[in-house]
Amino acid sequence: MSVTEQPQPAQGRPGTGPDEARQQLRDRISADSLTTRRDYLRIVATVSGGLAIGGVGVAAGILHRHGDSEDLPATRKVADELPPGQAVAFRYPGDEDRALAVRLADGTLVGYSAVCTHLACAVLWRQDRGSDGELYCPCHEGVFDARTGEVTAGPPPRPLPRIFLTEQGDGSVWAVATARSGEPAKDALCRQLGDSRPEMTQRLGCPGTARATENRRT
Ligand code: FES
Repeated sequence: MSVTEQPQPAQGRPGTGPDEARQQLRDRISADSLTTRRDYLRIVATVSGGLAIGGVGVAAGILHRHGDSEDLPATRKVADELPPGQAVAFRYPGDEDRALAVRLADGTLVGYSAVCTHLACAVLWRQDRGSDGELYCPCHEGVFDARTGEVTAGPPPRPLPRIFLTEQGDGSVWAVATARSGEPAKDALCRQLGDSRPEMTQRLGCPGTARATENRRT
């Protein structure tokens, strides 16, 4: 699927609203037998190490399995599948917020706001630029690294804000959370979780977690 195709953001089965779609996803995730405690701990450890948007996306998906934070945006289906070397445009977290999901050639799944950080033009994905392709803003020739969202050319002053994605067992791709421009994944999750998931924030090592846990005990 190319970025020029603009499917309507899927909200679940046809005829269902956002709340219902969210519940459907929750139910499906709860039934996912692949989610073991070992997986959970491994993914949390990955996030603690500060890496990969894919791992963070899965971690954020797990947050939804165990309880939602009111500050986390609703999950939204991005595509039924996204093969390597393909991208899809969608809207997230709001219906007016342009976003892009890209499956890099090595299988890595990345998501970004498609609003240029220069003057807010729409950012496109160009597959034929290097091994990862690139994210390109035609207004003033702004270019962003497809793997990191960092600015590689032109006037944009900041990286593209990230959108955390997760892939389900059936191959479908879902947007689950966002980060601000340049914000580390762990910081973004800690900020959006707030006090709603003390166990998770403690595992992530979010600032103030120990104090909050202590206060809760007293
Ligand atoms: Fe994107 Fe200027 S609006 S480079």
